[in-house]
Amino acid sequence: MSLGTETRSPWVRLSRRRDRAGEYGVSTMQTRSINLRVDELLARMTLEEKVGQMTQVGVLQDEHVEMVRSGAIGSSIVASSAWAGHEDQPDVVVDRLNEWQRLAVQESRLGIPLLMARDVIHGFRTIFPIPLGQAATWSPELVERGAAVAAREAAGVGIHWTFAPMVDIARDPRWGRIAEGYGEDPVLASAMAAAAVRGFQGGDPAAPDRLMACAKHFAAYGASEGGRDYDTVDVSERTLRDVHLPSFRAAVRAGVGTLMSAFHEIGGVPVTANSHLLTGILRREWGFDGLVISDWNAVAELIDHGVARDRRDAARLAVLAGVDVDMCSGCYRDHLAELVRSNDVPAATVDDSVRRILRTKFRLGLFEQPFTDNHRSRTILHCAEHVAAARETAAAGIVLLRNEGGLLPLGKRCSRLVIAGPLAQARRELFGTWTLNGVESDVAAIADCVRQTAPRGMTVTAVGGLVDEICSAARKSDMVVLVVGEHPNRSGEAHSVDQLGLPPGQGELVRTLAALGKPLILVVVSGRPLALTWEAEHVPAILWTFHPGGEGGPAVADALFGRINPSGRLPVTMPRSVGQIPLYYSRKNTGRPPATCRFRSHYIEGSYRPLFPFGFGLSYTRFEYSDLELSAATMSADGQVCVAARVTNVGDRSGDEVVQLYVRDLVGSVTRPVAELKSFRRIRLEPGEGRRVEFVLRPEHLAFWRLDGSWGAEAGEFTVRIGPNAVEGLEGRFTLDNAVAQAE
Ligand code: BGC
Repeated sequence: MSLGTETRSPWVRLSRRRDRAGEYGVSTMQTRSINLRVDELLARMTLEEKVGQMTQVGVLQDEHVEMVRSGAIGSSIVASSAWAGHEDQPDVVVDRLNEWQRLAVQESRLGIPLLMARDVIHGFRTIFPIPLGQAATWSPELVERGAAVAAREAAGVGIHWTFAPMVDIARDPRWGRIAEGYGEDPVLASAMAAAAVRGFQGGDPAAPDRLMACAKHFAAYGASEGGRDYDTVDVSERTLRDVHLPSFRAAVRAGVGTLMSAFHEIGGVPVTANSHLLTGILRREWGFDGLVISDWNAVAELIDHGVARDRRDAARLAVLAGVDVDMCSGCYRDHLAELVRSNDVPAATVDDSVRRILRTKFRLGLFEQPFTDNHRSRTILHCAEHVAAARETAAAGIVLLRNEGGLLPLGKRCSRLVIAGPLAQARRELFGTWTLNGVESDVAAIADCVRQTAPRGMTVTAVGGLVDEICSAARKSDMVVLVVGEHPNRSGEAHSVDQLGLPPGQGELVRTLAALGKPLILVVVSGRPLALTWEAEHVPAILWTFHPGGEGGPAVADALFGRINPSGRLPVTMPRSVGQIPLYYSRKNTGRPPATCRFRSHYIEGSYRPLFPFGFGLSYTRFEYSDLELSAATMSADGQVCVAARVTNVGDRSGDEVVQLYVRDLVGSVTRPVAELKSFRRIRLEPGEGRRVEFVLRPEHLAFWRLDGSWGAEAGEFTVRIGPNAVEGLEGRFTLDNAVAQAE
């Protein structure tokens, strides 16, 4: 096949992607709304062509040529399998994608372009920290920029659509996919979800450096029993609305073009067949008009769930529930046309789905410019600007959890440093899960970066794997840095764990080193929170980085030597033991609140407190909070209260603080959490500098799913706290004078 320059499709004209000129001439075309164009095209389609648009296949191969020609395929995942997150993937070759596109637009009857999709999750060639690590920056700006970089690189090679962001709330670190989301809190995750959508799509997803985003996995996928991936979820409508839906709502408000339905069931109804979620809430309540795609093979898996008799039945349930595109199960391809002919599925249902799919293609500008310029990617992949952005994000996500006696940053007290541990020489392992196009040679190991960053006069010895060798080098040193944690294959899809300690052997290594009595610094690289309780008591300094991506090496070295001041904050609660799970800060008070005495909510042998609370992170400087002020003691139903506090850098280094605002609704028609994050701001303060940080609270911030099944705030008293994490800070009170109904 060769890339031609003319088309016989009435729907596609080869022009620059921005050029809206087409079959009807510029002026007519520009005034036609997308919906009109969609309807015109729909009217010309056969039932089989419609089903084709609703069919997504994996990597396009020879067997697909005739299918593309006959309009039997609407989109392709440019990845080889559902296990893509854990495999090296071949390069995306622009020319090959253009050839397939040419086949679709020039050789199929209607010339409808293909949608090329790929999981571009935390970077394309330039790898950013895993989303959990990006959440640790508490910086929506950095998240937006990271997504924009990923979009620019991926769009440059011909990808149109990414299956990101994952905005599932995760409160169970056993679940491997906690790595892929923004943590445990709806407000933090919502801010990041919206930022990622803005970053991927920009103002116009049709721009040559943007992608269509896909918020996934709708919804409550992170609440599976036992933290086992794909497992049963049984959350109440209230928990669904209060905890699991807000981040999707935020993505929809930010204009996300597509959503992916999740694999699991909720209360007996698999999401793939769940019309309450996919049609009731998403389309009717929220007015979402983009497309919904199933997860990989999830339509066929309705049979395994035990709600569909066979593949035909599975296709029927999924399409009626509101799944527009069948990702790779083939059930729509094999059965949907016949289901319509036999009146088991209304023709209008299929038409509605196809409208949403075509609308997406029009919004992506694919009818105007289906092809990708194959020169673009050469100058942008892993360019200096992108690498610098990845490094800044990696640095901002590093969390300093412990620093007894100011051991860090490393300085004059240390002239002989040993660096060792299973991840000290790691390169590709720093990427984290879902990095299909990352290249190992782009990455510098932490040990190498430490060696390069060390000040003159400090000898750095990097020691390999054997414990005896590490100990003998450590004995001759002043300090030891041990890099421990998880290989990326220990987190991500289908990689749940039932223990939250360090992987086998590493805990022993830490204890052996700690017993030598040399000052020990742990650098933990992981895809999830780990319950490092012993380490948090016995190791004086702990620097944590959720898989930091390709620039993790320099970022960690910069943090160790104080070239940057750690400013990441935990986006998840760190538990003390696996037995505490689930453990999250916005718990309910219960009738017998936790306390270490009998007949209270606690463990007889262990603590009910977390190891480190949500929002926690230290700095090489210190921040003090003072002068809490509320602009009013009462908030009227249409009013607001400004809550402000002064934050001062009382140390001797410049540093970033993440100022957090929490609220507690003291009495409700239903029980309310003991604290809820409502807002946050990351600020930089020079030594001695103080700043008044002000937040505005309105009734909509106090809304929840009330007893009567409506969304809104209730009159009554609230406490409000400004502080550095979920458990500390300055507290005040205000009253809301009237109940207020809100749009969810
Ligand atoms: C995952 C999705 C992913 C899809 C396509 C599935 O197994 O759950 O998150 O987007 O595969 O690769």
